[in-house]
Amino acid sequence: MKILIIKSSYRSGSNSSALADKVAEGAQVAGAVAQVIDIGRLTINNCRSCYACINSDNFCVVHDDMYQFYQPVADADVIIFASPVHWFNISGQAKQFIDRLLAVAVLPRAPFSTKGFAALFSFEDADAVRSGCVNALRMFQDMCSMTKARWMGALYCSADKAGEAAARPDLMAEAYIFGENIVKEFKKK
Ligand SMILES: Cc1cc2nc3c(=O)[nH]c(=O)nc-3n(C[C@H](O)[C@H](O)[C@H](O)COP(=O)(O)O)c2cc1C
Repeated sequence: MKILIIKSSYRSGSNSSALADKVAEGAQVAGAVAQVIDIGRLTINNCRSCYACINSDNFCVVHDDMYQFYQPVADADVIIFASPVHWFNISGQAKQFIDRLLAVAVLPRAPFSTKGFAALFSFEDADAVRSGCVNALRMFQDMCSMTKARWMGALYCSADKAGEAAARPDLMAEAYIFGENIVKEFKKK
């Protein structure tokens, strides 16, 4: 079982990235092959809405930093997005990445319908609803519903300063277990 974990924060000591690393650890110990990628500082351009990917053997006409990730996305059984909440939704970088996924979302080549999705969020507000995390959550749930992918849940934390999440053993333990559980749940299907 292959899990692809996508970090999308720019900053060092990222809270959402700390969740991602622990989830990967738990998933690996539970028997998955977990690949963690960090797109936070990469150049990922807009989807051009050209739909060339739909009728082509190539993933995308835009050959930027995104291109290397199409095959790992296509090969993954479970994809986990890790994102800070920025202005009541996922980070712009995560959104760019997701917009560019049309090439692998619906084609017969590697449709999302065989995959599981989960998400990890960090935000400043003490309340998850007020933070806007719920908007991000809803986006992923709608994406799964449309592509017939399996929604496997989310883990989120209130943390603001860099390094804050990693310094919380309770949260790191929760993230580790979340990773383990994703593997167990996926195998049950
Ligand atoms: C541009 C920007 C927008 C933000 N918007 C929100 C927000 O809407 N809600 C919230 O609770 N926190 C918001 N935050 C705080 C971050 O979500 C918080 O610091 C988080 O832990 C950052 O995660 P990271 O360390 O993985 O980048 C914002 C931070 C920035 C820089």
